Amino acid sequence: TPRIGILTGGGDCPGLNAVIRAVTKSLIHQCGAEVIGIEDGFLGLIERRVRPLDWRGVSGILATGGTLLGTSNTASPFSFQGRDVSAEVLAYARDTIGLQALVAIGGDGTMTIAGRLSDMGLPVVGVPKTIDNDIACNERSFGFDTAVAIVTEALERVQTTGQSHGRVMVVETMGRYAGWIALEAGIAGAADVILLPEIAYDPDRVAAFCAERAGRQRYTVICIAEGACAKGAGLTVERTIADSPDPLRLGGVGHVLRAQLEARLPALGVRSDVRATVLGHVQRGGSPTPFDRVLATRYGHAAAQAIRRGEFHRMVSLQRGEMVTVPLSEVAGRNRTVPPDHPLVVCARDIGVCLGD
Ligand code: F6P
Repeated sequence: TPRIGILTGGGDCPGLNAVIRAVTKSLIHQCGAEVIGIEDGFLGLIERRVRPLDWRGVSGILATGGTLLGTSNTASPFSFQGRDVSAEVLAYARDTIGLQALVAIGGDGTMTIAGRLSDMGLPVVGVPKTIDNDIACNERSFGFDTAVAIVTEALERVQTTGQSHGRVMVVETMGRYAGWIALEAGIAGAADVILLPEIAYDPDRVAAFCAERAGRQRYTVICIAEGACAKGAGLTVERTIADSPDPLRLGGVGHVLRAQLEARLPALGVRSDVRATVLGHVQRGGSPTPFDRVLATRYGHAAAQAIRRGEFHRMVSLQRGEMVTVPLSEVAGRNRTVPPDHPLVVCARDIGVCLGD
């Protein structure tokens, strides 16, 4: 009987359970495999915490948030508490539990570790996971649609309160390196200003835009990705915070922008208050949308098919709407960021959205 391991690594994401379910059910249904769940990502392999997953164990989880296996952000067999324990981990996985292959669901970090274990002789199939939608060689990751839906709703909600008070409302989204969530949700939620990590913003321009709007509208809604930074501040959030007027009061780039606008708007004759909301992990929790449930099921199914075909050292990926596989080496260490001339950016500009540059 084939014995296949499965783990989830990195930050969680709506749809992880749907992937676990689809991998497990496909492997049991199609080849009678035994599926072994590894707890808390690679930490479970290091600390020898694994458990069998059977049909019933993965039933009723399609629509649930989080990951029933648990996950960990930092544990790597190549540097665990200052030691390289990869040889022990490999021996445990292959010889002690008898894994013939491993399905590793995770982001860039997980794919890098998976690629190295694969090089050492543990056949791996990767499944891309990120709400940020920024894994290389992959068109759309599960969890992204859910995050966009949550941010869209938040933008709509701050709009009515902003309108009532005549305020400038700043909403900070996730997206450390890539602005896909802010861009799509910004368009879906009718944000007036969308600020992305890929396009450095000029606080004077954003303030001038708010002032110009104030002549026509009582409010402005700004959607800013957490990785966005002001022009000249250097390309890190840390630098933006360091260069901002009052670092002690700040809790993220949304608050940096709030402080920047508060410092500029009165001189432009705008009396509006500015309020900032950092959405944070709200975007990562809870039930996946129907779109993400389908997408996650396709990813899990595709991973099981790759295992059956013996297509290892690869990550399943969505390209032009089709499930394909790509070498892990092409994925690790690369982020798919928003090209500044992306059609959605052009579209936003053309309908009058301010991109801050
Ligand atoms: O996976 C990336 C991400 O969504 C980033 O946008 C964000 O910076 C990060 O997760 C936060 O993750 P955590 O709080 O789990 O470290």
